[in-house]
Parts: sequence; C-alpha cells; structure tokens
Amino acid sequence: MNWKPDRHSHLSLHVQIADWMTTLISRGEWTVGMKLPPQRRLAELLDVNRSTIIEVLDELKADGLLEMKRGAGTFVSNNSWNMLLNKSQPNWHKHIEASIHKPNYHTIQLINEYEQDSSMIRLGTGELSPELLPTKLLEQSLQSISLKARDIGYSEPKGSKRLRTILSDYLKKREIHTSPENILIVSGALQALQLISVGLLEQQSIVFQEHPSYLNSVHPFQSAGMQMVSIEQNERLAETLKAAKGKKQSLFYTMPTLHNPTGSSLKLEERQRLLDICTALQIPIVEDDVYYELLFEESLPAIKSLDRTGQVLYLGSVSKTLSPGLRIGWVVAPEPVINRLADIKMQTDYGSSAFSQEIVAYWLSSGLYEEHVTRLRKQLKERALFVETILEKDFGRIATWKKSDGGFYIWLRFNEPFVNKTLFLKLIKQNVLINPGYIYDSQDLHHIRLSYAYANLEELKEGLYILLSNIIR
Ligand SMILES: Cc1ncc(COP(=O)(O)O)c(C=O)c1O
Repeated sequence: MNWKPDRHSHLSLHVQIADWMTTLISRGEWTVGMKLPPQRRLAELLDVNRSTIIEVLDELKADGLLEMKRGAGTFVSNNSWNMLLNKSQPNWHKHIEASIHKPNYHTIQLINEYEQDSSMIRLGTGELSPELLPTKLLEQSLQSISLKARDIGYSEPKGSKRLRTILSDYLKKREIHTSPENILIVSGALQALQLISVGLLEQQSIVFQEHPSYLNSVHPFQSAGMQMVSIEQNERLAETLKAAKGKKQSLFYTMPTLHNPTGSSLKLEERQRLLDICTALQIPIVEDDVYYELLFEESLPAIKSLDRTGQVLYLGSVSKTLSPGLRIGWVVAPEPVINRLADIKMQTDYGSSAFSQEIVAYWLSSGLYEEHVTRLRKQLKERALFVETILEKDFGRIATWKKSDGGFYIWLRFNEPFVNKTLFLKLIKQNVLINPGYIYDSQDLHHIRLSYAYANLEELKEGLYILLSNIIR
C-alpha cells in the first residue's frame, strides 16, 4: 500500500481516502468480502489520525460499500458493486420524467412493440400490407435512377429542387398551383407537424383539432406546450373558435379527406365554410391530405385549392400510397413559412434522405406512381368490401359503421362501451392487435379503428371473429 493522501490538495484528507477506497473497490482490487486492515493499521499506513479513518469507514458503510461484522472487523460489502453502479449512474428516470417530449400512451407503446411480432393479426395498422407495397417495381426502378455526386450530398434546405419541381407540377391535378419555392420536403408528414409546432407557434397557443383526432396519438403539439381544443364542426363553429382562441395564437389542424381515424370526408360546402371562418378569425389551417389519393370515387377539392390568402399549410406524403419507409412528405405554404420550417429542418436533420427523394422524383415523373395508386385503390376497395361483408353478416346486432369511401379505415362503433384496455390486452393474448378508439379520444370506449389495409384476407376474417367472440361472451 504505497498511496498516501496529498496534504497540499484542496480536497480534505477524508474525501481523498474515501475516493481512493471507492476506486479500489470499483476496479476490483479490493474484492467483495475482503477484510480491511484494522483501523489503527490503516491510520499508520496512510499517515493520518485514526479519527479520519473512522470518519471514512462510517461514510462508506452508510453508502453500502463496506460492512462491519461485530468482533471480526470491516469488510467490502457483498452489495458493493450494485451500490457503485447505482451511485455512478445518472438518475435516468428523473431525466426522462422531467423532459419536454410527452411519452406515447402505454397502449401505443404496446402496439408498436407487438407489431414486430409476425404471429399477430394486425386489425388496426395504418400501413399498407407487404402484399400491397410495390416492392419488386421499386427494386427495378432503382436500376433506372442515375445519380450525380451532387444528388447524394446534403440537399438544399427545402429539399431536392428536382423533386420540388416535379411536385409543383403533380399538385396541379389537385388544383394546387404553387412553385418549388413554396414547397418543403420533409421526412414524412409527421415531421411537418413537429416543425410547425416549434417553428410557428408560441407556447400555450391553441391547436384546434377534430374530435376524435390522429393528433392525440402522436403529441407533436402537446409536447411543445400547446393547448389542444377538440372542435365539432357544427353551426356554432365561428363562435366556438372565437371564444376559445381569445387573444392567443392558434391554428386549426384538419384532415378533411379520409380522416384518421373516422375515414370521413368534409363536403365541399363544409371545406369552404371552415376556410371562410378561419380566414375571418385569422386562424391558419393545417390541412393534412395524406390519404386523398385513396378515395374510391371522385376526389374532393383540397381546402388549399380554395385558399386565396395563404391561410392554409398543406401536407402530403407517400407513406400511405407508396412506402412509409421512404420517409418522404411535403409542405406547401407561403414562402416565409417554408423558409422558417426549412431553417429548423436544417438544424434538426440536415434534410431528408437524398436517395428517397430521388426515388420519389422518379416515380412521380415516370407515371409509375399514378399507375400504382390506381391499382392500389382497386385493391383497397376489394378489401373494404370483404370486411364490410363480414361486418354485415355478424356485427350488425352489436355495432354500427359507415361504408368506407376509401383509405384504410372503418370506424367501428360498438353499441356498448366494451373497448377498454382490458379488451385490448385480452386480444393481444389471442394474437390480435387492435387500435382502440381511446387513443384518438381518451373518453371513447365505443370505437375501434379497423384497418383493412394491413392484414391479409384470411387474417382479417380470423381476427374479426376472435374480436367478436370476446365481445359477445
Ligand atoms: C393523418 C395522418 N397524418 C400524418 C401521418 C404521418 O405520415 P408520415 O408517415 O408521412 O409521417 C399519418 C400516419 O399515420 C396520418 O394518418
């Protein structure tokens, strides 16, 4: 034992000795159960008073690193390694709980976890089934994409100019007339919501949303300190918005075409009315239009196409049509807004994947995208019919629903409030995963969001009968 405390150090003798002993234990030089020299001997070896040694030993005993056995001496405690581990780790729970972003609901965490289990029948998943994804065609198209070195560097803040030019052309079919400068490429529409929440609103702003709403299942605004207000679009809409807004900043988030989770769409008059009211009250509208290409019949005009004053921030994505894994979406908005969101996006991730942007540009400009979406609409319609036939045959007495107009979902309402966490967990045990209505509206125990897009037909049938058997028991 050559070490001795430094009498010229700014640290006291007892702190230096305690650190030295802790280091010996943590390095394993003093092993669990090892007996320490007697106090008097330690004092001699370290050239300090015995009272300093007693103080150190008491402290390390209190920390659980040492233990005293009556009449036998002082030993390195059995639990010393656990104590050291706990002591040296930051209190992560406290960090996590005190942090800004809200956690997912426990039910959604479980959904995310069980979606990885291939034996699960996924009755609620908001994603295309592997058999509906154009995997082979995507793979083949990679051969046709030529890359220049510039294409795979960091892209411009607003995203690939080529893709934005192609998109401005593509959006004309939606009667949205815009320029590449008014488009920002994002890593999915969800990122657009996050950028809007931190880039355009002060804390405590009001975010109006439909009732129920997809927003309740992801929290981009809630986590940034916004106040969510659910709104019914009835004849008192203007008064309700005016009263709730007061003098605060606000925006209205809407999914007017194939709403998630209800699958419903606003009529043309309702779209115009919402735009007129929000324009009069200076409430910007975020129009989330990620499902519109999946309408089975004639498309309804986007609110953005009716917008003459730059009131609407428009969101699109290829996640529901081509591939969610590409992580490509877009925002159309007035230029100062796009510049602001692009600036934050650069600070967040330096732009979306260059490869994904090239792939989407190729699919949109070659016509492959439209051909694929036309096929997809037909396939989804067949799936919707298949599920509706089962519902009509066996669910009519216990539930109601509206025939699907497109997209992925049927908002199935049970007459009784069966849809609670217990049912959700019970179904998991039977390998069926549902999206209960309470993740879109915490008070709702009547609905499930039934998706006919993910599971195959056999699984859909089996899953629905397992669900039924749990409800009529
Ligand atoms: C209404 C709506 N908006 C946005 C998203 C997120 O889409 P993306 O994958 O483009 O981020 C989803 C996905 O479920 C959605 O349903």
